[in-house]
Order: sequence, then structure tokens, then C-alpha cells
Amino acid sequence: MEEIKRLREMMKSYTAADEDFDSDMNHGIKKPSLAKYHEGSKRIHLPKNFEKILQNNNFYQLLTERKSCRKYSYDTISLQELSYLLYATQGVKKVIKDQTATLRNVPSGGAIHPFETYIYANNVSGLEEGLYHYLPIEHELEQLIIADSFKKTISEAFLGQTFLTEAPVSFYWSILPYRCEWKYASKAHRVALMDLGCICQTLYLAAESIACGTCMVGAYDQEMADTLFGFDTTPGDNKDVEFLLGGAGVGLQ
Ligand SMILES: Cc1cc2nc3c(=O)[nH]c(=O)nc-3n(C[C@H](O)[C@H](O)[C@H](O)COP(=O)(O)O)c2cc1C
Repeated sequence: MEEIKRLREMMKSYTAADEDFDSDMNHGIKKPSLAKYHEGSKRIHLPKNFEKILQNNNFYQLLTERKSCRKYSYDTISLQELSYLLYATQGVKKVIKDQTATLRNVPSGGAIHPFETYIYANNVSGLEEGLYHYLPIEHELEQLIIADSFKKTISEAFLGQTFLTEAPVSFYWSILPYRCEWKYASKAHRVALMDLGCICQTLYLAAESIACGTCMVGAYDQEMADTLFGFDTTPGDNKDVEFLLGGAGVGLQ
């Protein structure tokens, strides 16, 4: 019960102005980097001409036809379609001067954008099967080296929800909580969860607009998934800590 009380309090709104937080930002500590990079990884350019792939521009229809889709056709997803979904959910529209913040296609409290996007390409034309990390500023993918057992283990980590890895592509979002703690201190976590809701709904609507379907997945074994992605699972206040916060399968309906 104490735990529930504590978590309910965490969800409640805050009233402090930005400058009232006892945060690293207000102590003059340097802002953490805007995005994560895997030095030395192979980069893949993503095409950006999306007009040709858009199949439905009717917003009302997209809203009302959106549903969770857990069965996908065996058809391949094109690199352009994947590029569009990455751009819609995390793509950068503007880098604020001196790389102090990014403005993206989704909103984020304080323009912090604490999430990183990973994708598992199962059947994407032009991509070798495997795990990739999205670079939102460059709009590129980094190809990551993974164990052969990755695909099988990710299904286990997501509690047997095999539709994720059977999908032509699956998305995984991790959070680097220090990015928002730097500004919002102990009030960062509720803001970050709201941010993920924006990303998730944008994926649903963007997928629908190119005749694809998606399903958000929030049920998974945290430790197993984090270990698989190579994240440090030690609890603590480490500023570099990163952990998984959900996934989604995507494919043609
Ligand atoms: C945050 C979140 C977590 C979810 N987690 C799962 C999940 O782990 N497995 C699953 O099959 N569906 C999951 N869903 C999909 C919901 O079950 C689905 O949205 C709900 O049943 C309503 O159906 P609809 O999306 O078709 O309207 C999740 C949805 C959200 C928004």
C-alpha cells in the first residue's frame, strides 16, 4: 500500500516553475548530450521522400480506424516506409542553436526527448536482418552487432509475445532518465512517461497512414530485456543509465 501511495504521489502534477527545481540544470551542470551514438558502427542513410508512400491523408479516418494490430502480412516493409515511421516518431525538424535542444515531430516536456529508438529488422527491403539504432538528428541507422540468439530471446523477454519479432519490423524504446532529471529532478519521471504516450500514438497513426498496423507492448521482463540490449541493470543514480520502456511490432495489415 505504501508503494501504491508513493507511486500515486509521483503521478500528481507539480506546481514549481522550472527555476525552482533542485536540479542539475539549476546548479549550472552541463546538459547531457541530445542523442546516443555507437562509435564505429556502420551507418545506413534513410530516404526522406515520403509523398509516394502515403496512402491515407484523412485524419479523421486515421483516428477512427486505428486499432492494435498483432497479425501482419508476410510482405516486406520498404526502407522508405521504415524511414517514415522513424521520422514520424522521433525525427528532428530543427536543432536549436549550439545543439542545446531538438524540435521533433513529437512533443516532449521541456524539449528534452529522453528516448532512444532501436529497431529489429526482420523483413525490411535493403536492410540485413538484425538490430539497428536510430540517429534522429542525422536521420540514419546504426547497425548493431548482436548475438544470434537475440530474436529468440527478445520474444522470451516480451513474455512470449512472438508477434513482435514475427513482424517485418519491431520498435524498441529505451529511456536515458538523466536527460530529463537534469532539468526536472524528481518530477522528471512522470513527464517522461507522458512523452512515451506521444511517441506511441504517433506510431499508431503514422503506421495507419501507410496501410500498416502496429501494437504497443508494455509487458516484458525488464531485466531480461535490458540485459539483451546490453544496458547496465544495476539500480542507482548513474547518469548514463539506459533501460527499455516498451516496444511495438509493425507490419502491413
Ligand atoms: C502502454 C500500452 C501498453 C500495451 N501493452 C500491450 C502488451 O504488452 N501486449 C499487447 O498485446 N497489447 C498491448 N497494448 C495494446 C492494448 O492492449 C490495446 O491498445 C487495447 O486493448 C485497446 O485496443 P485498441 O488499441 O485496438 O484500441 C498496449 C497498449 C498501450 C497503450
